[in-house]
Amino acid sequence: MELKIFESPAEVARAAAKYWVNLNPKSVALSGGSTPRALYQLLVDPNEPFREQIAWDKTHFFFTDERHVPPDHPDSNYRMVNEAMFSRVSIPQQNIHRIPAENPVAEDAAKAYENDLRNFFGEAIPAFDLIFLGLGEEGHTASIFPGSEVLSETERLVAAPFVEKLNSYRITLTLPVLNNGKSVVFLVTGASKAEILREVIKTDKKPDLCPAQAISPTNGAVSWLVDKAAARLCSTSNSSNAAAESDLLNKKP
Ligand code: 6PG
Repeated sequence: MELKIFESPAEVARAAAKYWVNLNPKSVALSGGSTPRALYQLLVDPNEPFREQIAWDKTHFFFTDERHVPPDHPDSNYRMVNEAMFSRVSIPQQNIHRIPAENPVAEDAAKAYENDLRNFFGEAIPAFDLIFLGLGEEGHTASIFPGSEVLSETERLVAAPFVEKLNSYRITLTLPVLNNGKSVVFLVTGASKAEILREVIKTDKKPDLCPAQAISPTNGAVSWLVDKAAARLCSTSNSSNAAAESDLLNKKP
């Protein structure tokens, strides 16, 4: 695990873009919400180097989770990524693996996406080269919320939990898939995340209450790319002292 603290959300996005280019992933699971939008925009910005450094035609794009809405709905993660990235660069349509959340039955959308994953990765548990995740203020990640039955899912690759607090279904990759990722990168920015980030990093693991703590890849690495505002309660004095920061995380649960 590593924790890297940056001055601003823009620097977090730039660090994530460099991470992507250095890794040159062939399979990527994209997170939704608002935080990763800056990264997606930066990757295709013609005034930046990243666009020319990514093999768009050789990369397959998946989603960590989706809201139970059609792809043109304002809450759609696909719509956000399409507006920020897909629509601004040439990517073979078959490389974009959208969650078919327009399906009126969320469970059927989950099954369809599981089939898509199995078709692409084969029968084994998918091992994404790169997975992006966010962190909700109450500790959820992807669409795995505190107390969710998804936390104990060990067979399925994709689930469709009903999220009480949202009074809505979500479709999400499950922990077997997320914890089989080769590189998992959390992007967390803003003062509103300071309390929960401190909790996720500094307190002993209670994944049922704080699902982000359930992310612990078996054969992979986790990186937390965060800004100073989010790290306010858990950062060391020198925000760019990588060694000091990683000490923060090498605690035994
Ligand atoms: C979603 C996300 C979710 C997100 C967190 C953080 O569909 O909303 O995948 O897990 O990463 O809610 O959201 P923000 O980046 O908007 O704070």
